[in-house]
Amino acid sequence: MSHPLLYLTRLLPEPVMTALRKRYTLVSEPAEDHLPTDEDRRKGFAQADAVICTLTDPVTDALLATAPRLKIVANYAVGYNNIDVAAATRRGIMVTNTPDVLTNATADLTWALMLAVARRVVEGDRWIRSGSWPGWAPTQMLGTDVSGRTLGIIGMGRIGRAVARRAAGFDMRVLYTSRHRLPHSVLYAGWEQASLQKVIERSDFLSLHVPLTESTRHLIGAQELAAMKPTAILLNTARGPVVDEAALLGALQQGTIAGAGLDVYEREPKIQAGLEQLSNVVLLPHLGSATQETRIKMGLICLENIEAVLAGKAPLNPVGQHSRSADD
Ligand code: GLV
Ligand code: GLV
Repeated sequence: MSHPLLYLTRLLPEPVMTALRKRYTLVSEPAEDHLPTDEDRRKGFAQADAVICTLTDPVTDALLATAPRLKIVANYAVGYNNIDVAAATRRGIMVTNTPDVLTNATADLTWALMLAVARRVVEGDRWIRSGSWPGWAPTQMLGTDVSGRTLGIIGMGRIGRAVARRAAGFDMRVLYTSRHRLPHSVLYAGWEQASLQKVIERSDFLSLHVPLTESTRHLIGAQELAAMKPTAILLNTARGPVVDEAALLGALQQGTIAGAGLDVYEREPKIQAGLEQLSNVVLLPHLGSATQETRIKMGLICLENIEAVLAGKAPLNPVGQHSRSADD
């Protein structure tokens, strides 16, 4: 019996590649450093029974229209703003994502950014490497406390909650916004739900964990930045366009806020010019889920979803009208 045809837009880590080659025939060989072009994607979609794509692959209605055999698009990410889910649903094509498996890795990275900005970790490392550190001094490179401060979480889905849980170890107060009323079982005592405005105004660290949708695009713009404390630090490990990056640059230059830690950008891989000049900003190359363990689990989840759909069963992680919740 011949294997179903799988189009994989990017090379995935081992052992995912080995696992998928056992069950599927690849319509083309992904290469590690090759970003697929629109034409590559059209060719791939035209032949495939199933697709594994990533957040850098736009999956439009026009592309789906070229895919007569396609049953499932498995996004190798939790965010699926790169996919026209309504168009896929209309065409009877299932869309799935990879929640849960990347929650802890992304929450950990959010904390890495928080601590790095507050305690000037990257700046300090650069100083040592420059060879010009004169030795310890009482007034040298003073940062700001993390412990005991107020952490604001915008979007209290899985990742937002995982970031909030870690705050318990730092004796922080947690304020959050959520579109949903969350069950008590997922909340810690002392976490306080508040309006977006209140969370923005009161947080010392403001961390974004909403999906990118039309209503969250530029959720944080000039007005919101102006409403933050001048001592506050903004963290974005969600999606770049949730923040108006030009407004953020202005706010950082003018001292409207004290700093920022960014893992995602409005026009990846382009970065707003000027950000790289600022020492109160830590810039990471979209590493939220980038651990060996997590990237392997993400691949295996994609395979499970594909296997279910091609067998005519319901997938584990449907998104769009099939899904129950998508706060992160
Ligand atoms: C990463 O950004 C993801 O959405 O999984
Ligand atoms: C959303 O993703 C949730 O787990 O509440």
